[in-house]
Amino acid sequence: MDRIAIEGGARLEGEIAISGAKNSAIKLMAASLLTSEPLRLTNMPRLADTRFLGQLLSRLGTEVQEQDGPDGPETLLHTPEIISAIAPYDLVRQMRASFNVLGPLLARTGEAKVSLPGGCTIGARPVDLHLQALTAMGAEIELEEGYVIARTPHGLKGAEIEFPFVSVGATEHALLAAVLADGTTVLRKAAREPEIGDLARCLTAMGARIEGVDTDELVITGVGSLGGANWSVIPDRIEMGSYAVAAAMAGGEVRLTKTRPELMTALAEKMIEAGVEVTPTTDGVIVKRDPARRLRAVDVATEVYPGFATDLQAQFMALMTTAEGDSVIHENIFENRFMHAPELIRLGADIHVQAGEAVVRGVPALHGAQVMATDLRASVSLVIAGLAAEGETMIGRVYHLVRGFERLEEKLSACGADIRRVRDEVHEH
Ligand code: EPZ
Repeated sequence: MDRIAIEGGARLEGEIAISGAKNSAIKLMAASLLTSEPLRLTNMPRLADTRFLGQLLSRLGTEVQEQDGPDGPETLLHTPEIISAIAPYDLVRQMRASFNVLGPLLARTGEAKVSLPGGCTIGARPVDLHLQALTAMGAEIELEEGYVIARTPHGLKGAEIEFPFVSVGATEHALLAAVLADGTTVLRKAAREPEIGDLARCLTAMGARIEGVDTDELVITGVGSLGGANWSVIPDRIEMGSYAVAAAMAGGEVRLTKTRPELMTALAEKMIEAGVEVTPTTDGVIVKRDPARRLRAVDVATEVYPGFATDLQAQFMALMTTAEGDSVIHENIFENRFMHAPELIRLGADIHVQAGEAVVRGVPALHGAQVMATDLRASVSLVIAGLAAEGETMIGRVYHLVRGFERLEEKLSACGADIRRVRDEVHEH
């Protein structure tokens, strides 16, 4: 299994182009099941997760073609007809978001059998809200041997749905089903993460009728069929935030391009409070920090968008490990999302975790060590810590990283980081 080796201490200077958002790309790919016409997605990230979903979609009847377009990587998805409405466990378990093919399959064919996503290291992550929304739209749902078996004997019908709390996945799933339902669907307490806006706008380009995009109430008037479209995937705000924190941690000056400053407003506010310079530009931000001066500790609490993203919590914790003072970090979205804390402690951090809260007491410096990636965002927090740690940090289980960060080592080393992938010959278990 590959590892990543980082020799800490190098400043970062240069430019990093942000890729298309993983968490938008995979939902947009699922949307291609809703039409028999081709959907062309540009600004596509090339990641393990997009590859997984491509494999699943191919089984369902989608022709998936990755190509290099004039503006970079793109994916052409074409589903003339659904050849199978079964999403098997071995594919869904690899990536939870594959579960979101259930709604489009139901909308297009009236039936689907999709494996439950199973456990996940960052918490229980059930799909009850997804199923409640589909049931409200007229789906008959049974759970059998780990599979959701769903049918719509009378087609999907518009419904008024108020989510008990905000869920990104359930909002997207309900939206994907509602666009082809008969009548009007109202989604209240909808999530309004930028990736949902991206999905809604792409569906609109395909012929869907959606009002209230970017708000917490979506009104969807079902249409008889959707057509194809060309759509450019929104920039990845979590990748952007991760590199912004990396630059702040290592010190130096990095310009993040091909993105939009407003995608990281909540993070930028906290970084500025901590003493980092964050300057918006027309296509991103410039992050500047003098490594000779310690940052100040600041508190953060994760919230749904536009609040501080849970997907940036681990990275921010890494940044706080060497800040002056105590930082209190509340995780409000997932119940078990501090697995990076023990790994950061191995690098010399002083962190105490209790329930949904971590107290980070800033230390003057981190020291390189062997650590292990536990999930996608946790693993990038270890990279960030390693950039500033004295000596060598060796990160194991990097397969988590390739799920969501495109060409990470290349992007960081282009800015001067001493980071490389170590290919191991022996397999670990
Ligand atoms: C999405 O997950 C993202 N994944 C996550 O990013 C992200 O952390 C999360 O939204 C929050 O922003 C994708 O977009 C693929 P939720 P999702 O439904 O949709 C509970 C990454 O690293 N819940 O908003 O699964 C759930 O357990 C990933 O890229 C239910 O109880 O998040 C959680 O505590 C990690 N029942 C909370 O709601 C449900 O039916 C929010 O989850 C659904 C969710």
